[in-house]
Amino acid sequence: MFFEHPILAIETSCDETSAAVVVGNRIFSNVIASQIEMHRKWGGIVPEAAARAHVESILPVIEEALGQGEVGLNYLKAIAVTNRPGLVGALSVGVTAAKALSFSLGIPLLGVHHLEGHLLSPFAEHNVPFPHIALIVSGGHTEIVRVSSFGEYEIIGETRDDAAGEAFDKASRLLGLGYPGGPAIQEAAKSGKSKYPLPVGLKGDTFDFSFSGFKTAVLRLTEREGDSLNIADAAASVQDTVTRVLTERSIRAAEAVGAQALTLVGGVAANRMLRERMMAACEKIDLPFFTPSIKLCTDNAGMIGIAASTRLARGEASGIDLDVISSAELGS
Ligand code: KG4
Ligand code: ZN
Repeated sequence: MFFEHPILAIETSCDETSAAVVVGNRIFSNVIASQIEMHRKWGGIVPEAAARAHVESILPVIEEALGQGEVGLNYLKAIAVTNRPGLVGALSVGVTAAKALSFSLGIPLLGVHHLEGHLLSPFAEHNVPFPHIALIVSGGHTEIVRVSSFGEYEIIGETRDDAAGEAFDKASRLLGLGYPGGPAIQEAAKSGKSKYPLPVGLKGDTFDFSFSGFKTAVLRLTEREGDSLNIADAAASVQDTVTRVLTERSIRAAEAVGAQALTLVGGVAANRMLRERMMAACEKIDLPFFTPSIKLCTDNAGMIGIAASTRLARGEASGIDLDVISSAELGS
C-alpha cells in the first residue's frame, strides 16, 4: 500500500519551496521556505519572482530536509516531485533538481499531481477508510472528490469560476486586509459578526460551486457602505458565507455516495471556522471526519512524498523526460 523506503519529495508549484523525507506514510522532515513576505509587497504572486526565489532556496531546503530527516543521499530509494499543475517556471525548478538527483543517484523519479498530494495528506496522521469524500480547497482549486482507493479519484463537484482560496484572497484585497487573504480574513473576522448578506452562488442540488458573483457582491458592499463599512463584520460575513456553502455541499456529497468518511484538505482547510463547521456537521450524521494538522494543509513536500509512496508501491515511475504541466485535471 505504501513504499516503505526513504523518499526525498520536492514541491515548488507555487509560492513555497519545500522538501521532505518520507517513508511510507510517515513524514520524517518537512522543510518549507515560504515566499509570502516577498509576494505580500505586490499583493499577490509574481510568477517570475516566485521562480527566482525557488532557485535560491531549493538546495538549502533539500539539505535541511535531509539533515532533519537524518538520512544521507545514498540511503534514498526514490525522488518525488510535483510536476503538475502549477506555475511553469516554479515547477521547473523542483523538477530540474529532482531529475539531477534521480539521475546522479541512479534511483527512480516520480512526478506527482499537486492535488493528489493534498488529497492524501490526511494519511500522514490517520488511516482514512475508503470510499471517502474529500473537499479540496486551495488557492487554485475547489473540488469535491470521491476517493475509492489510492489512485482512484472521481471529481463529483468543482468550482465553475474562482476557487475558494481566491474568493478569500479577492475579498481580502477589497476589504484592504492584504495577502494572503484567508489568514487575514480569519484574523479580522475574530472581532466581527456576520451581518452582511452575501450570495452563496449556485442554487439547487448541484455539487458545483461558483464564487464569481460572491466577489462582485463584496465589491458592491464596499461601494455601497463606503467609510461606514465595518471591516470586521464584513470579514466575518465573507468567512461565514464561504465556509457555510463548502460544508453544505460536501456533507451532501458524502451522503449521496455513501462515503465512509469526509476529509478536508488544501490551504483553505487551515481555516478554523471551516474545520469546526465540517466537524460539527459530520458529528451530526455520525460520519468520521479527518483533516490534517495546519502545517500539512498549506503547500508542503510531505504530502507529495505520501502520494508518491502509494504510486511507487504500485511500481510506477516517471522517465527522465518528465514534463512540467501548468494545468492538469486530477487523475491525469
Ligand atoms: O494549498 P495552498 O497552500 O496553495 C495552493 O495550492 O493554492 O492554498 C493557498 C490558499 C490561499 O488562497 C490562502 O488564502 C488560503 O489557502 N488559506 C486560507 C487560510 N490559510 C490559507 N483560507 C482561509 N483561512 C485560512 N486560515
Ligand atoms: Zn496547494
